Amino acid sequence: MSCPFDPFEQKRKEAGVLPCDFEGERVPMILRHADVKAATKDWHKYSSDAPRRLSFPTEEDVRSMRQFPLEVDPPDHTESRKLVEPFFARPKLPEVIAKVEALARRLVADALRQDSVELVRDFAVVYQSKALTYMLNVPEEEADVWISWGTHVYRDVDAAGKIERGRQFEAYLNSLFDRALANPGEDFFSYLNQATFQGRPMTRVEALGIANLAFAGGRDTVINAVTGSLGYLGGNPQALEYLREDPKRIVNACEELFRHISSLTHIGRVCPVDTEVMGVSVKPQGKVSLCWSSANYDEAVFPNPHEVHLDRKPNAHMAFGFGLHLCLGAPQARLVLRSLMKALCEQVQRIEILKAEQHFEVEAEYRRAVGYDALLAKLVSLE
Ligand code: HEM
Repeated sequence: MSCPFDPFEQKRKEAGVLPCDFEGERVPMILRHADVKAATKDWHKYSSDAPRRLSFPTEEDVRSMRQFPLEVDPPDHTESRKLVEPFFARPKLPEVIAKVEALARRLVADALRQDSVELVRDFAVVYQSKALTYMLNVPEEEADVWISWGTHVYRDVDAAGKIERGRQFEAYLNSLFDRALANPGEDFFSYLNQATFQGRPMTRVEALGIANLAFAGGRDTVINAVTGSLGYLGGNPQALEYLREDPKRIVNACEELFRHISSLTHIGRVCPVDTEVMGVSVKPQGKVSLCWSSANYDEAVFPNPHEVHLDRKPNAHMAFGFGLHLCLGAPQARLVLRSLMKALCEQVQRIEILKAEQHFEVEAEYRRAVGYDALLAKLVSLE
């Protein structure tokens, strides 16, 4: 039976490319590790200059602004990335590490006190939201609003509610910048209010594009990595024992879980001119997909790719992308998952899964398992 996380296996081996229909457009999905990597380096051919169109599905109906630095090429990419780097590097600061570790310990202890816990909405969403307040340097209470959004900033509502959700989200982001203007501090929003871009003050629309990505880029991706890892530990109790024996193993184990889960299946680029992509012709401004999840299962790079090897090394996975647009939130995602593993090793003997509803991304040419819609579990204490 084929692996539910890797529906691309056959096409990757046979052709290295899968043409797939997305919203009426035939998009070649690049599947092999080497080809995806090469494409990330060639931004003239595979451009990110396509506001609101790089994601699958596109977000043209739910937001008005371009996301920075994701949806731009150099030189704007270089400048906007550099501008926000100090905040995205905060998860490397000892005080931020200590806060996320304490949060993980607290949430695990709370879960242990309950007969059962729904790990998606009542654990992962809460954990991701509160951890993000430390990165953005805003009060933890602000996370209450973010928790109410559910698993995805836009998609966790029905089709009819999506546009309204987008409008509310934009209004909420504006209110954060307004509040920061009235009461400047050391937070992300005050910082962007004072930022300079292209030699002039950054506009509100540009700042909104940065903030939008800080929320949307790290939401379902982190939630799926957390729940995917908890689901894995539930099914493999010996894995928790293995990490507990030597917590230094947590770092490699998390990388392997990021690879195996591959929370972001793929992302788009556009070809500025008529282009032939592995035998598939792409019209000017037509989309191409860089399929991280397929690259992460490429048997040419990862021996036994469908198996989880918590000590896999080397592990050149591309769960966080590669090159120019390499995920800026990777330090935050790593801190969140490592802190959770640490807290579980300290407090939890095993995770008993009571009910699991796997989430599937369903497209014209594939169906891929990513995270869970619901994951009910009982955490059993070490004591
Ligand atoms: C497991 C969690 C995550 C995964 C799998 C993930 C995946 C990715 C990938 C594959 C890219 C590259 C996109 C491209 O090449 O076009 C990316 C970029 C980005 N991600 Fe993440 N991400 C995660 C967490 C986060 C978090 C927590 C944040 C923010 C708090 C974040 C913010 C960003 C930003 C700002 C970029 C754009 C970087 C640039 O364009 O230079 N991500 N992410």
